[in-house]
Amino acid sequence: MPTVLNTPSDEKTGTVTSKPVIVIEHLYKQFGRNVVLEDFSLTVYKEENVVVLGKSGAGKSVLIKCVIGLLKPDKGNIMVLGENVTALNDDDLDRVRSKVGFLFQANALYDSMTVRENLEFPLRRHWINISQKEVEKMVKEALENVALLHTLDMMPSELSGGMLKRIALARTLILKPEIILYDEPTTGLDPVTAREIDQLILKLQKKYHTSSIIISHDMNCVKNIADRVILLLDGKCYADGSYDELEHSTDQKIKQFFE
Ligand SMILES: Nc1ncnc2c1ncn2[C@@H]1O[C@H](COP(=O)(O)OP(=O)(O)OP(=O)(O)O)[C@@H](O)[C@H]1O
Ligand SMILES: [Mg+2]
Repeated sequence: MPTVLNTPSDEKTGTVTSKPVIVIEHLYKQFGRNVVLEDFSLTVYKEENVVVLGKSGAGKSVLIKCVIGLLKPDKGNIMVLGENVTALNDDDLDRVRSKVGFLFQANALYDSMTVRENLEFPLRRHWINISQKEVEKMVKEALENVALLHTLDMMPSELSGGMLKRIALARTLILKPEIILYDEPTTGLDPVTAREIDQLILKLQKKYHTSSIIISHDMNCVKNIADRVILLLDGKCYADGSYDELEHSTDQKIKQFFE
């Protein structure tokens, strides 16, 4: 059994209205003989930020790729906004994906497209009937959210690492997703820029009432952002609690992340 330090979400909000938006039950995933997830379970509640800690190679990216249906688990269920993503056909999966933003570890912007074109891309893909006027309005709003309106016609190669991360965040948010999955949003950034990204994530979450799973090695980011922290170890949810609870744990396997 995992070291469940508390059952946090209801305590956090103090209400009974907090509803689950992601429910992962008994998830298994292996590649050949490499067992990555082994009976992993986790529930994320509305407007909650859950940070996933785990060593490199523990399966954190695999986990969120399963949540968004980019990888198919071998066993187990994943309910996202009430739909079982492990059982959906491609069209239905696409519909669910339009409500789930994914900030990739490596930004995944298109190098050959301007910032404007990068931001237009998800709108045109998911909202086929949207007018040009509406597209323009949404692209500008998305860029204003990350304070980068002036980069509209620039190419990704002309932008710094922090700016690219903010553009990727703007592109993730442009469809107004209910859930955002962040894969190491601050890795590779200098500490000052990393803290700016933390603040931006929090600001935009409050504005749009999103729920998030955030993968991070950056303990400052974890401390700033997490409502709840879980530790992915040996394919399972090994620990689950607040930042303070995990930080003060006497379990060496948990403690080592806070040293
Ligand atoms: N598509 C794939 N095919 C085969 N093996 C994969 C695939 N994706 C991931 N793996 C393996 O699954 C394991 C977990 O990978 P994952 O990328 O989830 O690690 P991680 O916890 O995100 O690590 P990091 O902190 O370095 O990003 C690794 O052993 C990796 O080699
Ligand atoms: Mg990863």
